Amino acid sequence: MLKLENVYAGYGERLVLEGINLEVGDSEIVCLIGANGAGKTTTLKTIMGLVRPQKGQVNFNGDMLATQPVNRIVQAGISMAPEGRRVFGKMTVLENLEMGAYLRKDPIGQDIEEVYRLFPVLKERAKQPARVLSGGEQQMLAIGRALMAKPKLLLLDEPSMGLAPLMVEKIFEIIRRIWKTGTAILLVEQNAAMALEVSQRGYVMETGKIAMEGSAAELRRNPNVRKAFLGRAGERR
Ligand SMILES: Nc1ncnc2c1ncn2[C@@H]1O[C@H](COP(=O)(O)OP(=O)(O)OP(=O)(O)O)[C@@H](O)[C@H]1O
Ligand SMILES: [Mg+2]
Repeated sequence: MLKLENVYAGYGERLVLEGINLEVGDSEIVCLIGANGAGKTTTLKTIMGLVRPQKGQVNFNGDMLATQPVNRIVQAGISMAPEGRRVFGKMTVLENLEMGAYLRKDPIGQDIEEVYRLFPVLKERAKQPARVLSGGEQQMLAIGRALMAKPKLLLLDEPSMGLAPLMVEKIFEIIRRIWKTGTAILLVEQNAAMALEVSQRGYVMETGKIAMEGSAAELRRNPNVRKAFLGRAGERR
């Protein structure tokens, strides 16, 4: 479905990604883990067309995305819930969800109901401005908004960041439910233990390169992964 081939990208003079190769198959859930500043967000932005590769290709179901405008990439079937749950604070919850569907011309009522089924709290708060939601609720809204584009591939950038453990559990459970409905997911996470638990495969990034890849089970067992990302939580597994 998605294939990054030898992608080099960065910001102006600053090269961040140095030859990324990464794939997400149909209805797969894949995680991308790595230290702060490794280039995880830059990888997602490059897929979305927010950062342009200097070299290499982003292939999505045969479409070459690297030169396409962001709206075409969304229409091709990719959407992202960005890092730091950036919702539109002054808009209501419902308006945020409608924004997620801004490129669609078909009716969206049923999809709003589907998002409400995944996140009942968003229905209760539909008419409230997004800024009054809790952190976890804003994360739900960011994911719900991304779903409103009806993606084939959903990019999630650190959905568990800054959330209390119970909320983290809940978010991961919902990620799994979304995946089960047939949406492929590329999940960027600091919480490597949880990420490797929900994912089928994973990639480990180190300063702009893929340092390791494998099935989630292989990565969980890998001593380097355990040492760098799993710590005591990993030892217990
Ligand atoms: N807009 C920008 N302009 C210039 N440099 C940037 C920009 N955004 C990110 N960078 C740099 O690119 C590198 C990779 O950043 P990126 O945000 O992709 O990392 P990350 O793996 O997502 O890190 P984190 O886990 O902290 O979110 C960092 O050195 C960062 O300083
Ligand atoms: Mg990031």
